[in-house]
Amino acid sequence: MPSAARAVLLVAAPVVAASPLPGQAHVPPRTLQPARWHRLRLGTVRPEGWLLSQVQLQAAALTSHLPLFWPNVANTSWLGGPADNDGGLHESTPYWLNGATPLAFQLGDPALLALVRQYIDGVLVRQTSEGWLGPDSDHGDFWSRYPFLLALAQYHEALPHGAERQRALDAAVRFLGTMARRLQGGVKLRSWSASRSHDLIWAIHYFVDALAVPAAGGGEDRNSLLALAELIHEQGFDWGAWFNSSAFPRAAVEDTTDFTHGVNNAQAIKHGAVWARQGGDAAGGTAKSWLAWEVLMRYHGQPNGIFSADEHLAGQMPSRGTELCVVVEAMWSLALVAQVAPTNSQATRALDALENVAFNALPGSLSDDLWSHPYLQFANSVQAVHDEVDHVWTHDGPDSAMYGLAPNYECCTANFHQGYPKLISHLFFMMPTEKALVSAVWAPSTVSLPDFAGGLELDLRTRYPFGMIAEYLIKNAEDFKLRVRLPSFLREVAGPGVGLDTVRVWLEDHEQIVELYDGFLEYTIPPWPEAKPRVALRIEWAAAPKVRQGPREQGASVFVGPLLLGLDLGEQACKVQQYSFAAADWDTTATAPWRYGLRLDAAGQGFGPLAWREPGPRPHRHRADACPLAVNATLLRVLEQVWPMVHGAPGPLPTPGTAAAGPPETRLLLPYACSTIRIAAFPLLNGQPQNVIQLV
Ligand SMILES: *[C@@H]1O[C@H](CO)[C@@H](O)[C@H](O)[C@H]1NC(C)=O
Ligand SMILES: *[C@@H]1O[C@H](CO)[C@@H](O)[C@H](O)[C@H]1NC(C)=O
Ligand SMILES: *[C@@H]1O[C@H](CO)[C@@H](O)[C@H](O)[C@H]1NC(C)=O
Repeated sequence: MPSAARAVLLVAAPVVAASPLPGQAHVPPRTLQPARWHRLRLGTVRPEGWLLSQVQLQAAALTSHLPLFWPNVANTSWLGGPADNDGGLHESTPYWLNGATPLAFQLGDPALLALVRQYIDGVLVRQTSEGWLGPDSDHGDFWSRYPFLLALAQYHEALPHGAERQRALDAAVRFLGTMARRLQGGVKLRSWSASRSHDLIWAIHYFVDALAVPAAGGGEDRNSLLALAELIHEQGFDWGAWFNSSAFPRAAVEDTTDFTHGVNNAQAIKHGAVWARQGGDAAGGTAKSWLAWEVLMRYHGQPNGIFSADEHLAGQMPSRGTELCVVVEAMWSLALVAQVAPTNSQATRALDALENVAFNALPGSLSDDLWSHPYLQFANSVQAVHDEVDHVWTHDGPDSAMYGLAPNYECCTANFHQGYPKLISHLFFMMPTEKALVSAVWAPSTVSLPDFAGGLELDLRTRYPFGMIAEYLIKNAEDFKLRVRLPSFLREVAGPGVGLDTVRVWLEDHEQIVELYDGFLEYTIPPWPEAKPRVALRIEWAAAPKVRQGPREQGASVFVGPLLLGLDLGEQACKVQQYSFAAADWDTTATAPWRYGLRLDAAGQGFGPLAWREPGPRPHRHRADACPLAVNATLLRVLEQVWPMVHGAPGPLPTPGTAAAGPPETRLLLPYACSTIRIAAFPLLNGQPQNVIQLV
């Protein structure tokens, strides 16, 4: 709950007019530390390869179609319409814009850009003389402005200098002035406005940085905005205390509060990292954010890389679910933690976590055509159907597992759009004082930075996570440092004193000794004046299936590189309801048996060769014959009475060492992200060694 006792500090402080009166002691202006890693301006990093296919699909599907047929965006109250008022919140259109805006600029898609401009312009022309933005039905409803301001910040960032850009900044500053006056007038942050306060503080910091650019004026506005951020920080939830408290839940919660709410927790991971810039303590802020992620994963972590929260924190049972909004919000939080972290090794941990979510839980909660999603995803599930009255999750409705347009509640339909665009925005960072570019997460992409290294063009050619080569094609007038994070599965083999034969690196065709500095490869890229870029850096590696044991309730899971694999259930989809365009609700069920486990002695586990396929126009096809990776495994079957269904889902895993029901069988594993339903957390069983078929 909001910590009311801490709220008094700044309520009476002059938030809007911050200059000292004549004769008063001079108050030093508030300051904002830069993050260690600088964000690259929106639009300078662009998707390529499978990632381009994925976001083109997204843009062509719901991102561009919601304004055409979905009332919460098509007839939003933000543009004077009757819709988008659910729960009195007005959040759908801001959520959508928070993803559609970066996507439009990253794709340079004229139609989507026009749509985004039309919406943002429509909101700005309706700004009241007081400065308020959006519907004003409740003077305490600040929350839905937060995602709007996040969209506006990205819009401002991507626009060229000029009147349209200035207008976005002015609108934000005017709104924040109004918000400050309302808070001074006695309105208190509450509910979502208080629990998600650090999203707003991030936006305020963005606009403070923007004000700093043209030196003319802005000083007073900056100080007032930082005073407002301080007030919001004080009135917001005390997430530091929550994550560091003995009251933090260590199992699925029954008594729910706003503190146990999954999306709130996902957004709150950023609290320490965001406040670090203003509080001036990057180490302390990173520690707070890392503690948040660490306890969420220790007690609620799932093999798909995200914590369970089927509305509220839901423990480690692999049949308990995670809401799609949790996934996209946690991704952005983790990117911010990496950006602020004071050391490379701390940044690396946050990026490992981001990568696991981005390559597993995110696509694992989207249909392969990007027209539908489930409200909840599960590491283990054998059906995803509508109206499941007897369900394993405890705080969401009966449609939560179904893939559809807006199953259970509409927030994820509007909010999922930010997932991939914000990943793209954080694939690279800059460290200007060291003249270094940081390649944080591998994915096919290009970077274009006219003001860096005398003009830099970089093309990261890779199929990662579906391939085993990364090439940096670079054109640069001056030398610069390139810092490349090695993913965690490669750092395990490339650690100090360990044989490095599974990672090989060539710098301009000369093979290098692979040395890691705090998780990063680091090379000085010499200047390259010629018009055609060259392969400046080439990295190759090997990947084999790896069995990782999870906590007791989760048995073990199989990974290839960062990709979690799941048992192919021969899933079959049946349309339940058709909406406009290709939007529909689907019931998905299994046609193949699912009760299988891995061998207790993981070393005896047999896998066939990895069958890679080039990701097609639908990179995460939910079909064994069309997805980018498939691998056979020898699995052990268990009896139905040993692993029964409970409330429509696989029950608790059989205890380790349970006897298999027969000889090993060959079954196909696919990337988790290429399935709608799957078994990804396997029980560990005892099989007869003489029956093991070694496929390799
Ligand atoms: C939007 O509202 C208008 C007028 O109320 C209505 O005719 C139209 O069908 C609505 N469109 C959508 C997509 O809900
Ligand atoms: C958690 O609380 C302990 C005890 O008060 C404190 O020493 C520690 O610094 C806190 N951790 C974080 C990350 O804030
Ligand atoms: C898996 O094994 C079956 C034979 O049991 C074979 O037909 C199939 O091609 C194999 N698939 C892969 C991806 O290795």
